[in-house]
Amino acid sequence: MNTSRFAIAALCLAMGSGAAIAQQQSVEVLHWWTSGGEAGALNVLKGNLEKQGVKWNDMPVAGGSGEAAMTALRARVTSGNPPTASQMLGFDILDWGKQGVVADLNALAQKGGWDKVVPPALQKFSKFNGKWIAAPVNIHSTNWVWANQAVLAKAGVTAEPKTWDEFIAAAEKVQKAGFVAIAHGGQPWQDATLFESVALSTGGIDYYRKVFIELDGKIIASPTTEKVFQRMSQLRKLVDKDFSGRDWNVASGMVIGGKAGFQVMGDWAKGEFVNAKQTPGKDFACFRFPGTQGVVTFNTDQFVMFKMKDADKEAAQQKLAAAIMEPGFQSAFNVVKGSAPARTDVSDTAFDACGKKAIKDVAEASQGNTLVGSMAHGHAVPASIKNAFYDVITRHFNGQLDDKKAVAALASAAKN
Ligand code: GAL
Repeated sequence: MNTSRFAIAALCLAMGSGAAIAQQQSVEVLHWWTSGGEAGALNVLKGNLEKQGVKWNDMPVAGGSGEAAMTALRARVTSGNPPTASQMLGFDILDWGKQGVVADLNALAQKGGWDKVVPPALQKFSKFNGKWIAAPVNIHSTNWVWANQAVLAKAGVTAEPKTWDEFIAAAEKVQKAGFVAIAHGGQPWQDATLFESVALSTGGIDYYRKVFIELDGKIIASPTTEKVFQRMSQLRKLVDKDFSGRDWNVASGMVIGGKAGFQVMGDWAKGEFVNAKQTPGKDFACFRFPGTQGVVTFNTDQFVMFKMKDADKEAAQQKLAAAIMEPGFQSAFNVVKGSAPARTDVSDTAFDACGKKAIKDVAEASQGNTLVGSMAHGHAVPASIKNAFYDVITRHFNGQLDDKKAVAALASAAKN
């Protein structure tokens, strides 16, 4: 027995109480939020639970987009030792639902009226067999560009690029002025994040849906896809020579530090700018990837609870899920994370200009049916197809496939 336990036991005896020592409730949470901005946001959640007397046991698995985290999760569940809760995206949630190992959050969801406040496009990934199995914490979107204002001014870029041609012209100016035009990290998920914005900009929303959600072979094999790959080749010339393997937050740091002009990345990048104490409109700018205005390619982080045998753990899970869905928490958390709240009834007052735009864009897209799942982040197709797409996109970006061969490879990836 360690000294503090001994002290508590002695205290119980002294008080004449024969009651067993109450165990502190705790949660063990698996996640991949290890960058500065991400960790800052996670602290908001940790703090919330700790205030409720729930101890937080952290299980971070680094790696943007969560591939490594999902591998670690599989190992834990397979060995019969699942974490209390795990961060999860899109189709992965439905896959775990099918396995029958996740906890039912339906009673809590009914009580909290989640059905009424979470956009239907998200609910598709929060429910299995009509029952809530996940608590959505945010609405990130991937079709964003982040820009360093001072770099743009020095390069003579005076207006926000609104079209593909304007974007290329601006990036070329930045490059000619001696900066890195586009800060990019050559990792498959980052290449795919770039690719989906280029595809949306090139073909529009119907094309996006046909290619990434419906897997329409004819449309995938069409000349539009070749144009998308041609455009990726254009972008390849605008990244620096050290891009390979670079983490996304290191790329954000290049824009924050004035080494690069632009980064094309989901709005978790804004968490890095906020963490570096930068202000939108002054230090940096955020705008929708040129040609994708009006559409939001969403990526929502949700927390899934695993079935537990211990009543204390189950009670802690309910507290965690309830905390995530609480409107005040959704505001505090997403201000730091860079995302919009997953609930549509949260005020935008506490958010900066980019956050306000995110909230407005999501609301309009949800109403106008232009809120579509991000392929790169598991909200368009299941992991097996997503990974096959990653492979083609990355091989092409690294010059191992020419534009035409890449089109054929993408079509065959969709078929399998
Ligand atoms: C995404 C996740 C975001 C962000 C990003 C980079 O998959 O949804 O919350 O953390 O990865 O790690």
